[in-house]
Amino acid sequence: MKVCIVGASGKLGRYMVQHALDRGYEVVGVCRPESVEKLAAFSGRMTVFPGRTDDAAVIEQAVAGCDGVLVVLVPRGVHGYSTGTVQAVLDHAQPGARLVFSCGWHITLDGQDKYSLKLKVVVKVFGPVARLFRFADLDDQVEACRRVFASDTRWTVVRGSDLEEGDSQGLPVWSRHVGDPILESNLTRRVDFALFMVDALERDELIHEAPAIVGRQTPSALAHAGSS
Ligand SMILES: NC(=O)c1ccc[n+]([C@@H]2O[C@H](COP(=O)([O-])OP(=O)(O)OC[C@H]3O[C@@H](n4cnc5c(N)ncnc54)[C@H](OP(=O)(O)O)[C@@H]3O)[C@@H](O)[C@H]2O)c1
Repeated sequence: MKVCIVGASGKLGRYMVQHALDRGYEVVGVCRPESVEKLAAFSGRMTVFPGRTDDAAVIEQAVAGCDGVLVVLVPRGVHGYSTGTVQAVLDHAQPGARLVFSCGWHITLDGQDKYSLKLKVVVKVFGPVARLFRFADLDDQVEACRRVFASDTRWTVVRGSDLEEGDSQGLPVWSRHVGDPILESNLTRRVDFALFMVDALERDELIHEAPAIVGRQTPSALAHAGSS
């Protein structure tokens, strides 16, 4: 399997590179030119295409011949970075390629998610403040995912809970809707978020799903093991 990791130099991206290499996949990555050195540890083991992830020409080259594309969706800036990234991937990934995108719990596929007051406040307060300071645009990630959901590609959108660093606890558990009891702990190790993304490449049951994930050793996952 040849996979392209779009946004490879970030924390999630580098974990995904490692998991993909561990599985023996051929790995190519796209990251901003100023971030290429963050991939130095993988030198000689992957091919790097320097460029912004919303640069269609860069994406076209990077995804050529890839069976899978793993995309870190970040709503940074106020210039539609996530939406541009998604569109470039949807336009240029080879037909039939498995596409896996990352985002947060605030994204909803069918409107059936039940959000905590805390998450609602974060989105309502952080969203406008981040946009005001031109730091991030949460609506950009919403639009990006809307385009993924509307596409006829073989997509999965993985919705991450709050994240923490630390050793792997194994593959996270998932549920269709935020608010489901198994997700209550709202915490996943970032290394395991990456593991779920890479694992999804070969899980056809996740095609056209937007799994919300939580660490498999968290109290809510342990309490509801086997119920989802
Ligand atoms: N952080 C959380 O608590 C959390 C919770 C739930 C879900 N998620 C999801 O997890 C994924 C990874 O997020 P993360 O927070 O863990 O961060 P991350 O993995 O470190 O990724 C951050 C990404 O943003 C890029 N970036 C940073 N500044 C940028 C800028 N000014 N313009 C364009 N790109 C820029 C980075 O590229 P460079 O390497 O080039 O800087 C990197 O690819 C995202 O899809 C996010 O929605 C995160």
